[in-house]
Amino acid sequence: MNVGFEKVEKGLENIAIKETCLSNIDGEKGKLYYVGYSIEELAEYSSYEEVCFLLLNGRLPTRNELEKFSAMLVSDRSLPRQVVDALRTLPRTAPLMSWLKTGVDLLSLYDQDAEKTDDESRMRTATRLISKVATLTAAAYRLARGLEPVEPSPELSHAGNFLYMVKGSSPSPLEEKIMDVAFILHAEHELPASTTAALVVASTLSDLYSAVSAGIGALKGPLHGGANERALEMLQTIGSPDKADEYVANELAAKRRIMGFGHRVYRSFDPRARIFKRYLEQLSERTGDKTLLQIAEAVENAMMNRMGGRNIFPNIDLYSGPVFHLLGLGKEIFTPFFAAARTVGWIAHVLEYWRDNRLIRPRAVYVGPEPRSYIPLDRR
Ligand code: CMC
Repeated sequence: MNVGFEKVEKGLENIAIKETCLSNIDGEKGKLYYVGYSIEELAEYSSYEEVCFLLLNGRLPTRNELEKFSAMLVSDRSLPRQVVDALRTLPRTAPLMSWLKTGVDLLSLYDQDAEKTDDESRMRTATRLISKVATLTAAAYRLARGLEPVEPSPELSHAGNFLYMVKGSSPSPLEEKIMDVAFILHAEHELPASTTAALVVASTLSDLYSAVSAGIGALKGPLHGGANERALEMLQTIGSPDKADEYVANELAAKRRIMGFGHRVYRSFDPRARIFKRYLEQLSERTGDKTLLQIAEAVENAMMNRMGGRNIFPNIDLYSGPVFHLLGLGKEIFTPFFAAARTVGWIAHVLEYWRDNRLIRPRAVYVGPEPRSYIPLDRR
């Protein structure tokens, strides 16, 4: 081992790389706060626009500030025509997260502020990204399905407009509220792999678009954002609540992971999962379709019986997938939606980090051969 390293911290587990005022996770108690406000209160009383302002400015807005900030988001909604034209050329079978990453890189080419480093330009780019990544997500989803993108509506909230751009029709008040809560619950979560990836890129003093693009790449994986889509697939595969116990038993016996369970930080029920579960109950009641709710609850019970003692509890993805499904969203958009909602969290962390930037450059412990002589090709 190299001199100076006593052990390798695999997965950077329990290593703090920055201080933050943005979010605070109490993993033992299953509590989450954004800038001191509990996620339960924000989900109940706030809006995604307000939460974005909170994360970018460190305080809740006044009414006037919120109106101004919301108007900025609205004015930034449309995509440059060249970006939409380029999206039309992408292969429809490619993962939507790859569309999204490509789309964000393309957007950077049309933002005059992208390379500027003063606070005002960065804030303009921040709101532009928050607004446009949502539009990009909806446009990519529709184009990949062979449908025309829907122009954003200036009349609707960020969440309502997202549903409108995805489905092409205005949402009901309950659908809009649930989508807004989904945006809030996905907005920020301290330093998961995607935010860390964004920070690594930003710490080189690269630009916000590159940081968001890196975040999207990391979020795509099934151990992170990609779990929501797979959790729904699992519930659909199980098919009925009475099959859940056997499914869980077989999967665990085969040493496979049950999607929508476990977390690096939570050692109890993810508070976001509790909130989603409540809305799933409401939606199931409203639509009269309780199948997914009942299967998810049966999987939860089966996992609690087998894994509860090991602190493996439901995470956000167990109940978010069924909610999105009942809202009429195809599962390929679940993780891209997560990215659209988390863009603000990635950016807020990057802006916070840049105030006292330090290049992120960890070390690797060398365990390869001792120095040795090169062997020419014809003597090997
Ligand atoms: N199903 C079955 N076993 C599990 C699960 C699960 N979902 N999660 C953890 N375990 C077991 C794991 O097999 C290991 O057992 P053993 O010690 O016998 O090898 C033990 O629990 C500890 O797991 P770990 O992999 O060391 O824990 P981690 O902190 O690296 O894992 C995790 C966190 C999220 C990667 C993991 O729980 C997992 O793979 N969950 C399924 C995927 C998922 O739902 N991801 C969404 C996370 S929340 C949304 C987000 O932030 O993106």
